[in-house]
Amino acid sequence: MKKLLTVILALAAVACAPKPAGKFLQSDPRVEELMKQMTLEEKIGQMVLFTSDWSVTGPTMRQGYLDDIRAGRCGNLLNAYTADFTREVQRVAVEESRLGIPILFGYDVIHGFRTIFPINLGMSASWDIQAIEKSAQIAAEEAAAAGLQWTYSPMCDISVEPRWGRISEGSGEDPYLGSLIAAAMVRGYQGDDLSSDNTVLACVKHFAAYGAPQAGRDYNTVDMSERWLREFYLPPYKAAVDAGALSVMASFNELDGVPAHANKHLMQDILRDEWGFEGFIVTDYTGINEMVMHGYAANEADAGALSVNAGVDMDMMSASFMNYLKEKVEKGEVSEKTVDAACRRILNLKAALGLLDDPYKYCDPQREKDRTLTPENKAFARSFAAETMVLLKNNGILPLAKGEKVAVLGPLADSKDDLLGSWRGAGEVQSVPASVLDAIKEVTPVSAGANKVVLVIGEPWSWTGEAASRSSIRIPEDQVSILKQLKKQGRKVVVVLMNGRPLDLSEESELADAILEAWYPGTMGGYAVADVLFGDVNPCGKLSVTFPRNLGQVPIYHYAKNTGRPYIHPDAKYESRYLDVPNEPLYAFGHGLSYTTFEYSDITLEGGDSRSESGMTFRGEGTLKAKVTVTNTGDREGTEVVQMYIRDLVGSVTRPVRQLKGFERITLGPGESREVEFTICKETLSFYRQDMTWGPESGDFNIFIGGASDCTKNASFKYEI
Ligand code: BGC
Repeated sequence: MKKLLTVILALAAVACAPKPAGKFLQSDPRVEELMKQMTLEEKIGQMVLFTSDWSVTGPTMRQGYLDDIRAGRCGNLLNAYTADFTREVQRVAVEESRLGIPILFGYDVIHGFRTIFPINLGMSASWDIQAIEKSAQIAAEEAAAAGLQWTYSPMCDISVEPRWGRISEGSGEDPYLGSLIAAAMVRGYQGDDLSSDNTVLACVKHFAAYGAPQAGRDYNTVDMSERWLREFYLPPYKAAVDAGALSVMASFNELDGVPAHANKHLMQDILRDEWGFEGFIVTDYTGINEMVMHGYAANEADAGALSVNAGVDMDMMSASFMNYLKEKVEKGEVSEKTVDAACRRILNLKAALGLLDDPYKYCDPQREKDRTLTPENKAFARSFAAETMVLLKNNGILPLAKGEKVAVLGPLADSKDDLLGSWRGAGEVQSVPASVLDAIKEVTPVSAGANKVVLVIGEPWSWTGEAASRSSIRIPEDQVSILKQLKKQGRKVVVVLMNGRPLDLSEESELADAILEAWYPGTMGGYAVADVLFGDVNPCGKLSVTFPRNLGQVPIYHYAKNTGRPYIHPDAKYESRYLDVPNEPLYAFGHGLSYTTFEYSDITLEGGDSRSESGMTFRGEGTLKAKVTVTNTGDREGTEVVQMYIRDLVGSVTRPVRQLKGFERITLGPGESREVEFTICKETLSFYRQDMTWGPESGDFNIFIGGASDCTKNASFKYEI
């Protein structure tokens, strides 16, 4: 029996609701008292961030950080954690420095702290905004219990560049999905109260457009039009700021010839003046000194002055502020007011985090023990990891039956280490209970000679993340050759992929009977893979980034333009096409299969102002409802991500052929139908018009709704301003 229910669409409605206004930084009277007592050196000291010797994520510039803390020359520390260790360092700051100002402790808590969740690219493939928020909240709770108050996350860098290793750390190619995720992560980390002992300050990074390095090589030059930057790259950073993030990290790249660390247009015009950001801006590691190598500053002293004058408040690791800023102030190249403003922002944040009330509030070993790697955290990590997996192909071999013999092969099958991915926080291999092989062995006999094979291949985790660009996006040949041999032997092969970037799977997609994209699924990832393979969980992930047929198609993304010569006629020569591959990707953005099937009705439009032969029209501040009925036509429950794309047919600047504008995750039982409703308003249709104002234009639009960006159900409507 079919049931019909109506859903009011929450996520598409987000675009039509007023946006949150960002968080104001309260000015604390104790900060003003401190400022009166501080020397210039001590103010500069609050603008300095060094690593401890606990763990290092880049070249160390300076040892002896405890002496710097004592002398008031360093007010912030990264890579120091555990309640005991941070308590001791905090004691030095509070008891042995002249003014006793507490240290702010930061760390890269990127996809979990001790309980590790899937890498961020994987998380985004869940399209489950609530689950992503919850993962950030758990990460914050574990990190805050280990003495930390500040995470260098969310990473909001949109990327269409699979060669770039850091595409694994972001939410993929789409600004709409990326914005929802960025905001959710900020909410998860910061909660409602920064001063509570289970929240941490978020840091929006890397500002800006770090995800678009030329040729995919990390740290490389970025150049794009202001329009493209604003429409496709800036929205997730802005969403994170609007959600209340109170720190931002500059990016290593230059943009339009100006390194981000001295880019006034980014930091002052856009971030502070347009977006009203009141928090502080930190450098990315030695980003200040790197401006010498960029060829933008003659020396490190000038680089520091350029960056602080452009808007940077805190220097991570360059030691430029520590060594030269006082001199630059004395020479009048940097005003004392600028230093005061930066110091005040940082101190006000320390006050907001509760550190001026109780510097030791985050350093409680008992809480650290109680709140870390709890059974609840691990249970959530397991179910969330399963949700992030994308079934790319299935000829019916999956799900496997429990009890049937399978062989589990491949270099990643028995690796606990690779499950954690890069930027694994304080996650440890010893905390991973099972590799994929271990987990499968718990549900079925595994035998090397079985006809059905689960082949776990991909990239070792160290091939992704920072400084891990590749010039090939193929799986290494020694791994693909295992698949070829198995197929030669006539065996049925389920490929489980662990990787952190879109790969060229053209060969594997021909050979394999099924492909499950598992990303690096985290602490409980071995079990989560088994849960999906054996059908305890019906896969529901959808790609948040396009998978090309080969590297030659890159960049390839779903919001491409039409061109003046779109490829329409099969044999046409002078149309925009390749001679050797189709234009379409191997797996489109939004693609992902399930063990059940979903059918979409035609789209109906309602609620506009008038209807004519050319379709429904809505006007001005009005709204239009687009509805489809989705039916689960298979025999098991499944979750579908219903996606809505819009095309603006004629604009004062050309518009993408499709652009994601809304989605909804729905779970349907066998035979169940549900009506899904999207609200379209003027914000849904807005873009940077030719004069760079943000808003819609009157005209004709197409709307597409379906289970992937290449869906075919469509309708047309008109909008009049
Ligand atoms: C990375 C940042 C990170 C920082 C601190 C840098 O190398 O680019 O993403 O937050 O190190 O570890």
